[in-house]
Amino acid sequence: MFDLTEDQKAIRSMARDFARAEILPGAMARDRDHTWAADLYAGLSELGMMGMFVPEEYGGAGLDVLSYVVALEEICYADASVGVTMSVQNSLAGWPILAFGTHEQKLKYLEPLATGKVFGCYALTEPMAGSDAGSQRTRAEKVDGGYRLTGNKMWITNGPVADIIVTYGNLDVESRHRGVCAFIVEKAFSGYAVGKVEEKMGLRSSCTSELVYDDLRVPAENLLHTEREGFKVAMATLDGGRIGIAAQALGIAQRCLDLSVTYANERKTFGKPIAQHQAIQWKIADMRSRIEAARLLTWRAAALKDAGERCTAEASMAKLMASETANFCAYEAVQIFGGYGYSQEYEVERLYRDARITTLYEGTSEIQRLVIAKATLG
Ligand code: CAA
Repeated sequence: MFDLTEDQKAIRSMARDFARAEILPGAMARDRDHTWAADLYAGLSELGMMGMFVPEEYGGAGLDVLSYVVALEEICYADASVGVTMSVQNSLAGWPILAFGTHEQKLKYLEPLATGKVFGCYALTEPMAGSDAGSQRTRAEKVDGGYRLTGNKMWITNGPVADIIVTYGNLDVESRHRGVCAFIVEKAFSGYAVGKVEEKMGLRSSCTSELVYDDLRVPAENLLHTEREGFKVAMATLDGGRIGIAAQALGIAQRCLDLSVTYANERKTFGKPIAQHQAIQWKIADMRSRIEAARLLTWRAAALKDAGERCTAEASMAKLMASETANFCAYEAVQIFGGYGYSQEYEVERLYRDARITTLYEGTSEIQRLVIAKATLG
């Protein structure tokens, strides 16, 4: 049987305790008021959850990806807005520096990220480069001492609060992804600005914005990996990021199921709890089966990554199944709650909105299918 180690179970239970005691109680109010939960990130940092797989020598918790996945599911069970911030910090900002950075870059940037002193973000998407990430139009030009970046990034989770930005620019737009370079940008660099902050359907207490690079100066030592290899940095980073979004989707889905079970046992129609009607029983059975299948895919992708194996297709399968499951479960939860599920007084209304993003960001379901098909068909 595929199970967690005692250490992984301990991490899960620590995350669960923190999530249910500290994060869950304020989730609906933060969603309503679009409140950024600064104090919660301090708590997560103290527990080592902002740098889970950063080695201890660089200030992190030195844990494995599977521990990260089970912890992240618990955080997202309580509030997927808090979870996405944690996910971006770990998977999208910390990981590429750990995997591709020089020793000096790791020393400089990983400790502040892992200890939550600063926030990180991952800025790849552009107005004309979303699903087609290889068509990066942000220009990177070589100048004395480094590079000059010019362009706009959009839909950047943590954009408004990020101090450290893992980003991409193209030395040669004509050669598409083969000209792309990855950079580590600091908020304080000249030419960097946060643009429009998005008003979103869900994840309203996380923050998302445009980033503007207007003659942004990046020193040569902040090139991440080698010139023109940036697209591979971006894609390898998304392999891990997608496992994180699968974990997020599982958290949302499991919360939908648990709320539905409680409600179905309490709410009566036609003289008995609705849980005793087969129409509801089938929904519950389908929700649970899909969640458990998606969880196994997610754990397998994490285990492959821990083993140092390429997990591109497995990460996409996990993300595809978990995100579609989150949307299925959110839909069914609202259906089970009936009119109450449509009211902002009930948590399933927020879960329904939060689930929606999981099939969109870090690659739409259509992009995941494209990746899986390519790996299958060759
Ligand atoms: N790891 C390493 N290298 C990879 C790779 C991976 N997972 N995937 C592709 N590559 C390499 C290929 O081997 C190829 O290398 P060569 O040039 O040497 O041949 C190169 O990258 C180009 O690969 P493709 O030909 O497959 O590239 P493509 O242009 O067809 O695009 C794609 C592939 C999968 C569609 C990609 O564009 C993609 O993933 N699109 C979706 C982008 C995405 O997920 N964006 C989300 C942004 S993050 C986010 O959502 C923000 C947030 O804040 C949460």
